[in-house]
Amino acid sequence: MMDLTGKTVLLTGGTAGIGAQMAQQLKAKGAQVVLTGRSPEPLAHARKDGFETIAANLSDPAGADAIVAALGARPIDILINNAGQGVDHDFRESVPDLAATDACIYANLNTPIRLITLLLPRLRERSAAAIVNVTSGLAIAPNTGSAVYCATKAALRSYSQSLRAQLAGTNVTVLEALPPVVETQMTASRGGNKMPPEECARQIIDALEQGRDQVNVGMVKVLSLVHSLSPGLARKIMLRF
Ligand SMILES: NC(=O)c1ccc[n+]([C@@H]2O[C@H](COP(=O)([O-])OP(=O)(O)OC[C@H]3O[C@@H](n4cnc5c(N)ncnc54)[C@H](OP(=O)(O)O)[C@@H]3O)[C@@H](O)[C@H]2O)c1
Repeated sequence: MMDLTGKTVLLTGGTAGIGAQMAQQLKAKGAQVVLTGRSPEPLAHARKDGFETIAANLSDPAGADAIVAALGARPIDILINNAGQGVDHDFRESVPDLAATDACIYANLNTPIRLITLLLPRLRERSAAAIVNVTSGLAIAPNTGSAVYCATKAALRSYSQSLRAQLAGTNVTVLEALPPVVETQMTASRGGNKMPPEECARQIIDALEQGRDQVNVGMVKVLSLVHSLSPGLARKIMLRF
């Protein structure tokens, strides 16, 4: 069990959706949360709520570097790579925009790797530390319409698995969180059943406290089970979307 009281958490994308809920829940458990975001208004709102904030666009290397510069020598116990974005990349609909594609790949994959690389030395100095990478059920099996988004999440899942093996036996645990479809600005344009972000955040924080390796949130449990029985079937089901 990891006691979150007094822990310092760096949480990317803490101004909206699942991240904003994780920020509130971590604070309620006595953690000191430093959160990052991009848009000024939600950042100001978070500051009013008592959070320390860092403004950073994570679509290029400058974002992670600005976060590390703003932290100075401050100790960090928990790094949560939650910020993520989608991008239109469906050749059946339009020619993809390459700049937007690169920005998505950088934010979803390169920035977590960069933050881990820059912050691991200070995580290693703590008595008990954790890295949380938020991927997606789509990291298990991709859909058809979001080729680049799915690829970034599958890559971050793969990276998390290698990193966990590298850090086995150290003070740093690696948790991969795989949310299902959650009701946030990211999924605003789609219908269907969506998990409330509070509940998704609750399950991730719970897994963090328990020192788990992976948390399959909500319907991702079913996808994971199907995939373990038949990867081909899981792929076939998900590629219908
Ligand atoms: N919602 C879902 O159904 C779902 C499902 C599976 C996985 N996930 C993953 O869960 C995580 C959180 O998703 P969410 O639905 O809560 O998203 P969200 O509501 O859109 O919030 C995303 C957060 O990340 C920040 N962010 C996004 N792109 C950024 C960038 N390039 N640079 C800096 N900050 C950036 C946003 O800040 P600004 O608003 O200021 O840009 C915001 O704080 C993501 O990694 C997402 O891929 C979500």
